[in-house]
Amino acid sequence: MRTLQVLLALSLLATPALAKGKGTQDSPWVIGMSQCNLGEPWRVQMNADIKKAAEAHNNLNVIFKDAQNDTLKQRAHIEEFVSQGVDLLIVSPKEAAPLTPPVAKAFKAGIPVIVLDRRVLGGDYTVFIGADNKRIGEAAGKWIAAKLGGAGNVVELKGLMTSTPGQDRNSGFRKGIEGSGLKVIFETDMQWLEPNARKEMESALSRFDKIDLVYAHNDPAAHGAWLAAKAAGREKNILFVGIDGLPQEGQAYVNQGILAACFEYPTGGKEAIETALSILGGGQVPKEIVVPSRVFTPENIKNGGEALK
Ligand code: FRU
Repeated sequence: MRTLQVLLALSLLATPALAKGKGTQDSPWVIGMSQCNLGEPWRVQMNADIKKAAEAHNNLNVIFKDAQNDTLKQRAHIEEFVSQGVDLLIVSPKEAAPLTPPVAKAFKAGIPVIVLDRRVLGGDYTVFIGADNKRIGEAAGKWIAAKLGGAGNVVELKGLMTSTPGQDRNSGFRKGIEGSGLKVIFETDMQWLEPNARKEMESALSRFDKIDLVYAHNDPAAHGAWLAAKAAGREKNILFVGIDGLPQEGQAYVNQGILAACFEYPTGGKEAIETALSILGGGQVPKEIVVPSRVFTPENIKNGGEALK
């Protein structure tokens, strides 16, 4: 009898409380937010943007989980949100392929899913929100080709190539420099991480005497490359271009003369909450929402940068 009671108590404990809300102040909607990592300032900003936008509504409750750059952990987080029965899921996935099945499973279980910034494969989600990375890459390519007068040696520090922004910032860039005399003399996957970028740049510097510009897929990597060049006394002979453009990061680097340009990559956090509210309110949303981007240079930064053409 006692064993039975203990078993019953244990099974009750193991059953997750259903998180369902009604969209009222007393019973707010419950949104699960699966963030792939909080290691970079950009992701901290994304969560802050989501939190701020959500706080403007008294009928929403967002639960954040940080997968600490571990795909398996993120998969488990998505599954936990599903078994908790959240009303809606926001996922910013580390990698496309391995996170496609859990996202599809959540969606097929009837939970609306907003995929934010990095894509998954296929179409088993409600809406994708993000900036156009191909367009950003292409704009960067064109800007760089013009800046270097159509010729020069470029180092490309690529973001994690199993994530879609890395792939798109690469293919867009290659399209942007097509037909120019620019040569990519060194390219490598720095996995979005500043320390990796710094190490890779050390190798590039030791192999090549003439490097005209570093195109880095994010600002942390551009900064890591600049640190490596500075340590080698070569930072004044090389231009650095990055992507993200946070006021406290990329824009500050432009102001300090570290970056020749940086391309804004908005977090989409505010748009995710606005979209979540329309979905939860029964509205129709498009399959894809593209957030606009800007370029910041020393010439235009005082005026808030310039929209991508
Ligand atoms: C942060 C980050 C950003 C980059 C984005 C791409 O983890 O690497 O720097 O723009 O992810 O998804």
